[in-house]
Amino acid sequence: MNIMEWDSENASSTFLAQVSDLAAKADWENLRVAYLGKKNGLVTDLVEQLRNVPREEKPRLGKAVNQFKSLVEKTLQDHPLAKVESSAAQKVFDYTLPGYQPAMGSLHPLTLIQDRMVEFFVRQGYDVAEGPQIETAYYNFEALNTPESHPARDEQDTFYFPDGRLLRTQTSGVQIRYMETHQPPFRMIAPGKVYRRDDDITHSPMFHQLEGLVVGEGITFSDLKGTLQAFSRYLFGPETQIRLRPSYFPFTEPSAEVDVSCPFCSSGCRTCKQTRWLEILGSGMVDDNVLKGVGIDPERYTGFAFGMGIERIAMLALGIPDIRWFYQNDRRFLDPFSWR
Ligand code: DAH
Repeated sequence: MNIMEWDSENASSTFLAQVSDLAAKADWENLRVAYLGKKNGLVTDLVEQLRNVPREEKPRLGKAVNQFKSLVEKTLQDHPLAKVESSAAQKVFDYTLPGYQPAMGSLHPLTLIQDRMVEFFVRQGYDVAEGPQIETAYYNFEALNTPESHPARDEQDTFYFPDGRLLRTQTSGVQIRYMETHQPPFRMIAPGKVYRRDDDITHSPMFHQLEGLVVGEGITFSDLKGTLQAFSRYLFGPETQIRLRPSYFPFTEPSAEVDVSCPFCSSGCRTCKQTRWLEILGSGMVDDNVLKGVGIDPERYTGFAFGMGIERIAMLALGIPDIRWFYQNDRRFLDPFSWR
């Protein structure tokens, strides 16, 4: 069809007549191809020819072709047969195929381990507290007996905001917030995210800690030891031994690092690096300065505290060699935990 001989009114009525004759989906499809098909469709062809019509004819013909094009598109689209499934499409659906099994969500292994740890303490009457992840230097360091000049600040290098606040490097600040708002005696734990400038197979810039604090009259180092022994047996099995090594933390005095006997061997293995012991947490008796700072009288009250990395415990308990696996959302890693 030469566009110069094309009569738009005639074309429209012809098209509408053809539409009114449509009886089956296949007819509708044929008509669509005849008008809108990429190759040889009448509308497609006219649009193409528009490019070469004489300048003075362009506005008139352009308008006519566009109106015709809209008429065809809209009429076909709105036609009841447009929504009928084509026989070709029907054939493609095979009702005998097995059903599609939707993927089930489940708790993350870190959540599972954290829940287990929290449960131990909740059963012993501990309160569960939370604090902000964006923290002031006061709660993260100073109130924990770690002034600006203290070398322990370097080890906990973190991310600072322009206003001086920081991403907390430890959950220990929650101890301070809790003591400011509660009177002893009390026992509390604080699980949560912490941040440090560290990144390798056992360190991540974001990880989780669980903090614990018990303050009351007559709380002694034996209470600390007994609590951590019971906790270790609960986590790693009833045969588990613990070992306390003298250590240093600015906010406890004396301080101890706690190891558990390797749950995987009795004579040395890869997990315990042939030492038969695994370090799991830091702890100690709350430093007098910390108690004084929150207005608790250290002559009357004493307390113990401890803190541990949840990833570390999970890696030991579940035999996971690389901390980054926790954050990659790889189903090959996550799925085996989903039955729990
Ligand atoms: N905040 C310490 C850390 O991140 C862990 C810790 C050690 C917490 C001893 C305590 C504690 O409450 O008493 O390494």
